[in-house]
This record gives sequence, structure tokens and C-alpha cells, in this order.
Amino acid sequence: MLKTDILIVGSGISGLFFAMKTAKKRPDLSLVIMAKETAKNTNTRLAQGGIAVVTDLSADSFEQHIKDTLEAGGGHCDEEIVKMVVHQAPERLKELLEIGTSFDKNEEGKWDLGLEGGHSQNRILHHKDNSGLEIEQKLLKIIKQLPNVELWENHQVIDLNTDTKKDKTTCSGAFFYDKKHNRIKYIRARTIVLCTGGCGQLFENTTNPKIATGDGVAMAARAGAQIEDMEYIQFHPTALYSKSQNPLFLISEAVRGFGAYIVNEDQKRFLFKYDARGELATRDIISQAIFKELQYSAQDYMYLDCRHLDQDAFSYHFPMITSHCNENGINLKKDLIPIVPAAHYQCGGIKVNQNGRTGVKNLYAIGECARTGLHGKNRLASNSLLEALVFAHQASEDIDKTIAAFTYSSKIVIPKFPKAEQSNDYHVFDILKKELQILVTAFYTSGNCNAALTKAKIEILHEEAVSLIKSHEITIPFIEFSNMTATALLIIEQCKKQNTLSDPIKN
Ligand code: SIN
Repeated sequence: MLKTDILIVGSGISGLFFAMKTAKKRPDLSLVIMAKETAKNTNTRLAQGGIAVVTDLSADSFEQHIKDTLEAGGGHCDEEIVKMVVHQAPERLKELLEIGTSFDKNEEGKWDLGLEGGHSQNRILHHKDNSGLEIEQKLLKIIKQLPNVELWENHQVIDLNTDTKKDKTTCSGAFFYDKKHNRIKYIRARTIVLCTGGCGQLFENTTNPKIATGDGVAMAARAGAQIEDMEYIQFHPTALYSKSQNPLFLISEAVRGFGAYIVNEDQKRFLFKYDARGELATRDIISQAIFKELQYSAQDYMYLDCRHLDQDAFSYHFPMITSHCNENGINLKKDLIPIVPAAHYQCGGIKVNQNGRTGVKNLYAIGECARTGLHGKNRLASNSLLEALVFAHQASEDIDKTIAAFTYSSKIVIPKFPKAEQSNDYHVFDILKKELQILVTAFYTSGNCNAALTKAKIEILHEEAVSLIKSHEITIPFIEFSNMTATALLIIEQCKKQNTLSDPIKN
């Protein structure tokens, strides 16, 4: 039977950084990273902005970064966690630099620190406008050289194996789908670390890639872990409008930090009506303001205006955004960029402690799938890559100390699965997914939808999916779709509990 000391599910920054640190420190341990598609296909890769770190103590301070994070989080952050993350940031940054990650410097050779919404200081380290890609590439390169780490691509985890004794549940392995060999298999593990990202694909407009289907949250919930704050889905205010694209292309918040304006169809700025910080208010405030303007004006989009900016400097700082706009016929010197808010980040998730530990023994969660207490109701820009690094470090230290007590378990509770054979008919599931996205988006953004009715409709979609697999044996898209419906129901449930239905985005 397959076995590994540590199973890591997901190949974004959390999984890779955790694997790198743990494998280097503990060459005696075996680690397997499972990626449901290619290892490169992650949300990390799409992260444009960068990492918020206090590096210049003459202009900035840890206290200011802590204050900005707490304010953005709307009174719902865990202050001790915020302090821990902000204070650890320079050490984690040092580790990224040690593996050759490059961040931009100015002419004086100092960090070219970017500014983003909600930050009182320029403190964002970035690599042009593709910081996540730079980090992911450097980490993947190291991971491939580590003898005790195996990277299994196209391996989709289906469910966790758990054993409950005297009310204490322990996680001891995972069932997964080996897509290449078209087989469901099982792997035993002494510790499992979920790094599965968020659930942006539940929404019609999202900046998240197709893989962001809430898998980790759904699996952890089935295993009995506590899920919290799922009602706080962050909408990024400036995704490039498109009727047909999914995901939508992100126009980094750093563009507003660089001086871009948000304007309406009359080319007028309107954000000061909502917040004195205008374009540099936090994402929740700006997205809510744009939604309101869209509603009043019955338009499909607002605009980002970069025409007044130094175009050479702009394209130097934002080469990817510039070329994407050009390819789409938008000349930044002359044209306005059509934008809409899009689901961007899941602020809640699997509840973990300061070491990334869930309430299920041997099960950890790091990154967007986890609810650490850092983000509260609304994540401060560029705090997510930072959170991933800090919690990967914390979990790695914790597992180093505790794993000796965990032996392999041979007890397997075989869950009911659809047959292993599958036809590649994703089309029917695409239709079901679209219906689900419409339902969840309407529920979440209107604030007027009936939770009970939405829930009932989602349950019907789930039943349709079940009958499809019975008749057509379509397994892989079904696994994702069930995770999506389960996560959608958790969002509805938690919105109801918090009574946030009247204005969910505003939270
Ligand atoms: C952005 O560049 O606007 C995204 C960065 C983030 O989500 O923090």
C-alpha cells in the first residue's frame, strides 16, 4: 500500500514552502505533494501584487502594519495572530531571498515598495506585476531537487480517511484519483497538510483559476473539522470586464497605488463619496461602492483610468497588465479599462490554531483554505502570500516536534465512490457549474435572496450531478462539483448564522 510520512494537498506557495522547509530540516521524512492538475496551475501563480513586509523601519513600523490589517479586517481579526504574522514577515522574506526569489529595487538599490488599498505606507515587495509566478518558480525548482519530496501531478484527492475514538477524530490517509491511470487509490500518511486554496469558482465573476473549487474546505468539513467565516468572501474591485472569460484577468491593486482612478461612464471619480481614502480604501469598501454605482446606473462595468499616468513608468512596472490590455485592444494612453468586482479571496475556511493545526488530529491547513484569524472580514492587500509563508513555517515547526508520536494507521474506512472508469464528458458538468455560479452570485451579491430557496436549488443541482454519475460514470468533474456544492452550502449557512444577508459584501 502507498504511504508517506507527510501528504501535502496542493502545490501553491503554502504547500511548496512547507515542503521545502520540512524536507530540508527532516531528511528522514518522506513527503508527497499532490496537485490535482499540473503543479504550476495554482492561484499563487496569478498573484500580481506581492508581499506586505515592514522592511524600512525609518518610514514604517510593525505597529502600523498591524493596525492596517486590523482595520481592514473590520474588528474580526485575531490580534495575536496578526502580531505574529507581521513580526515574522522579515524572517520569512529572508528565506525567500535565500532561494533566489527576486523582488524589484529602485535606482538607489533599495526595495521598490508598492502601495495598495488599506496600507498606510508603501510596504509591498513585488516582482513587476507577477510576484506569485516568481515565487512559485523558485520554490518549484528547489522542490524538484529535494530527494525526500515527490510531486505527484494530476492526482486529485477525493476524501480524507478518519478514525473517531472517544469523540477524537484522527486523520490517517487520503483517497485520491490517479487521473493518468484512471484509478482511485489510497495513501497512508502520518500527517496531512491541506493547501488547497479557495473557492472563487463558485462565483460568476472571479479572478481565481478553474481549480479553485473549495476542495479542502469540503473535505475537511466531511472529516469533522470546524469551518468558520465562510461568509467573508473578498471581491477584488478591479477585474477586467468580460462577458465570457472565466477567470477574469486581474488588474492589480498596485495600479491604484500607482495613481490610477476609478471612474463612472461620465468619466467622473466617485469613490470619495464612500470613503475619504478614495481609490486607496480597502477592497470591501471599493467593491461595494462599485456595485452600488453599477446598480444605480444600470451599467455592466465601471472603469479604471490610467491615461494621466506616466506611460513608460507604467509599462515598466506593470508589463503583464500593459500587454494584456494591448492584446485586448485597450490603449492605456487613450482608453479607459472596463472593470468589475470579482470574487478573489476566501477570508474564512478551515479553522486552525497558530500552528496551522485543525481540530482533527494529524490534519493541518495552510493558506487560503485555512481560517487563521489574520484576515477577519476582509483581507488587507498582499497579506495572503505572507500568511502562507508564516503558517507554513509554524506548521513545519510543529510537525517536526509532534510527528514522532504518530504512527501509520492501517484502519481504512472505505467511502462510497462512483466507479473509477470515467468518460471525459465535462460539458454537462460545465452546465451545472454555471447554474451553481449564478445561484451563489445572486445570493451573495444581492443580499435579498432567500437563503432557504437558494439552498434547496443547490441541493437539486447536487442530486442532478449524482444521477449523472450513476448513468454516465463521470467521476472527476463530479468530485469537484460535489465539493463546490458543499462549500456553497457552507457559505449560505454561515451567512445566515451571522445574519449578513442584507449586505454581505460590506462586512
Ligand atoms: C493584487 O495584485 O491586487 C492582488 C494581490 C492580493 O490579492 O493581495
